[in-house]
Amino acid sequence: MTEPTWQLVAPASDIKPDEPKKYKVAGEEIALYNVDGDIYCTDNICTHAYASMADGFQDGEEIECPLHEGRFNIKTGEGLCAPIVDDLKTFEVKVEGGDVFVKI
Ligand code: FES
Repeated sequence: MTEPTWQLVAPASDIKPDEPKKYKVAGEEIALYNVDGDIYCTDNICTHAYASMADGFQDGEEIECPLHEGRFNIKTGEGLCAPIVDDLKTFEVKVEGGDVFVKI
């Protein structure tokens, strides 16, 4: 496995509050979120079954899966309710020159 490196993903202005977006970067499908003006990144695929978290419903720092309504904390990836058993993977994010970079 190769060491994670910073990958350019998108202009930060593309990520609006409560409107998560999905991207494919370095072979990973990820979701970016805007929580109170800060950008966060998780794996885009739910840990319960195959659903796109970016198609779910963001409420502040929580994201609800569109398929079975499992919820995760966006900042930590922690699964918050049934049917979630496993936490969602999170990725380190930085914003430079108005662009979002994710360490993958
Ligand atoms: S696929 Fe996400 S809660 Fe079931």
